[in-house]
Amino acid sequence: MRDKIVIANWKMNGSREANRAWIESYRATGVRPDCRVVVCAPSVYLAELAPACRELGIELGAEDVNENASGAFTGEVSASMLADVGASWCIVGHSERRHIYGETDNRVAMKALALAKAGLRPIVCLGETLEEREKGMTEAVVLRQLNAVLAVLPPAKWGAVAYEPVWAIGTGRTATPETAQTVHASIRRRLGCYASEGADRLPILYGGSVKPSNARELFRQPDIDGGLIGGAALKAEDFVAVVEAAR
Ligand code: G3P
Repeated sequence: MRDKIVIANWKMNGSREANRAWIESYRATGVRPDCRVVVCAPSVYLAELAPACRELGIELGAEDVNENASGAFTGEVSASMLADVGASWCIVGHSERRHIYGETDNRVAMKALALAKAGLRPIVCLGETLEEREKGMTEAVVLRQLNAVLAVLPPAKWGAVAYEPVWAIGTGRTATPETAQTVHASIRRRLGCYASEGADRLPILYGGSVKPSNARELFRQPDIDGGLIGGAALKAEDFVAVVEAAR
């Protein structure tokens, strides 16, 4: 049986005041989730968010990490530092890091490995661009990205996989439940090769314009185990509506 998980990716948004307001709005909903709830926030805010998240049963995550343990990497943050301030999850390979900052499949894999070594759960993001989809390359791209991390880290050490078609992120153009399910099933089949190592328990989340209005249909798909939520996670009430859809 796989966990249902709904993860907020705040991206480069928030402030100490806005974060406090988000927490209070979340608390005020009185939501009693039927799934695991994770909030991934900018690393500068993690220490301050940790106590309230613990109290509310929200697991805390980061949005990126450096793959080195320590050293002369000005401005970077290591996996052990994230653990130090209360994070237990971390996103790696988000399309914005791959396509804006040129992160390679290998670097994503090294980051996932560093997180696992520090005891954190990597959320490994995969996804094709519109051009790749239109060329019929979706499965090849997603499996290439998946295999790069599998080559260095067994899926039992992963926290979750997130399929996020690049063309659906922030665009309002959500993949249909059937389109998303097709790719999730392909990922599930590939992970089936590691069934003996518990890969069948690894949640596969969908991300890309998930909203309260479409979440339930998406989460009903057999191989969609929850969501990675961007824009709809910036307002606690909207995020809670997506969490409720995971029942
Ligand atoms: O990591 C989740 C994010 O990329 C999805 O963003 O705004 O399309 O929900 P959004």
